[in-house]
Amino acid sequence: MSSLQKGTILDIVADDLNSSCEGLCRVNGQILFVPGLLPGEKACVKITEAKKKYARGTIEKIIDKAHFREEPACPHYDQCGGCDFMHIKYDKALELKAHIVAENLKRLGHISWGEKKIKKIPAENKVHYRNKFILPVREGEKGEFLCGAFKRGARSVVPIPQCLTQDLAAREVMNYIAEKAPRYGIRPFNEKTKEGYLKGIGYRLEKRNKKMMLIFIISSEDTAPLQPLLDDIDFRFGLIDSIYANVNPDPAHTGMGGKSIHLGGKEYLDMYLGKAMYKVGPATFFQINSRQAELMFQHVLSLLPFERWGAVWDLYSGVGALTFYLASEFKRVYAVDVNAESVLMAEKNKERNFADNVTVIRGDLESLDVTQLETPEVVVTDPPRSGLSESLTAQLKKVCPSKIVLISCDSATLARDLDRLSGEYAIKSLTVVDMFPMTRHVETVVLLSRVEK
Ligand SMILES: C[S@@+](CC[C@H](N)C(=O)[O-])C[C@H]1O[C@@H](n2cnc3c(N)ncnc32)[C@H](O)[C@@H]1O
Repeated sequence: MSSLQKGTILDIVADDLNSSCEGLCRVNGQILFVPGLLPGEKACVKITEAKKKYARGTIEKIIDKAHFREEPACPHYDQCGGCDFMHIKYDKALELKAHIVAENLKRLGHISWGEKKIKKIPAENKVHYRNKFILPVREGEKGEFLCGAFKRGARSVVPIPQCLTQDLAAREVMNYIAEKAPRYGIRPFNEKTKEGYLKGIGYRLEKRNKKMMLIFIISSEDTAPLQPLLDDIDFRFGLIDSIYANVNPDPAHTGMGGKSIHLGGKEYLDMYLGKAMYKVGPATFFQINSRQAELMFQHVLSLLPFERWGAVWDLYSGVGALTFYLASEFKRVYAVDVNAESVLMAEKNKERNFADNVTVIRGDLESLDVTQLETPEVVVTDPPRSGLSESLTAQLKKVCPSKIVLISCDSATLARDLDRLSGEYAIKSLTVVDMFPMTRHVETVVLLSRVEK
């Protein structure tokens, strides 16, 4: 019988860390996952879940602590589901992120790219780095107005009056709204009954000129319930430059919806990366760590020296953040994204950045026939977590540019995509860029070179 029965208590040492930031232990050939336990640490663990192939347990007491464990700097760490790497010293945290990428490539992509060969671009700003944050709003068990963050491993919301990833001035605005909204009778969304009005409040922020876009996620197109609150905050905070309501009527879905209603101030927020300027809307994608995005884009350019003469495709291009970096190095850039608002912004950003050599195309890369575009020397892709569509990977093999740069925020789907391209392309360089300090997340940039047959 397995020694990993529910309720059993045992002393165990973690061998490794899995991609969900759980300590991975091996007990008589069985796998045990222990959230919070770090590689090399010994702990007394209670088994809480016993399945055929694995078990899961909780730490009762850490017996031997790792030298790289540190006291989390946030008072909400135990409850908040956000910063799951905050108990790890920075250098080790980055090393572990690279380790998780290498493990995923090996396990899911059959690629052995030694951890030591992975280059690292550490975060320059380790706190207060986010330029965007959406705080979920929910009705509590007793009808109270809760605004903060999702509880670790749950859908309920815990209030977090401070957050080390957020900007302090923007956070002050959020706290003010969270305090005032219930006083103006604004009903929070109830996760159980699926009723209520306010689903979230959030912001986008440009630190260079200290301007922010305030965003309310609401369940109906009626913006009247927000008016007393808007009148209250009017002129109170100099940094508010633009205000939007984003409508998400879907009771099962609590993130941003498809329609945004402009409520005041400027229609777009001006954001900057290096020398490039961008107009950004409430629901468009924009890298959440501006400084690291700059470093990542500079790195992408450094991988492509002497390519100036040709055409490049920037696939999954958003508002054109990377596009205008590429525009200075390539003769022609084709930027493709499915999101209508992003494509509109990219057109405006093209004008602002005097990038006449950019063609912006709205298209769904799940199905678009990209072979109709001018044949590129280089393709750069930066897909969402789901990775490259199968159809796109097949077309890339057909078009066969001399180089492909894959940017990915999910090394599991990156591994799958690299595996699919492995016959035609060889990895030349692999770099992790720390866009999200204190969390397990990381961006990976891979340079692929065509295999000459
Ligand atoms: C990770 S973002 C990258 C954006 C851009 N490269 C940047 O750095 O700002 C992914 C982008 O893929 C777009 N996208 C998602 N699914 C898509 C699809 N099926 N076809 C085309 N674009 C898609 C999203 O709208 C989003 O702008």
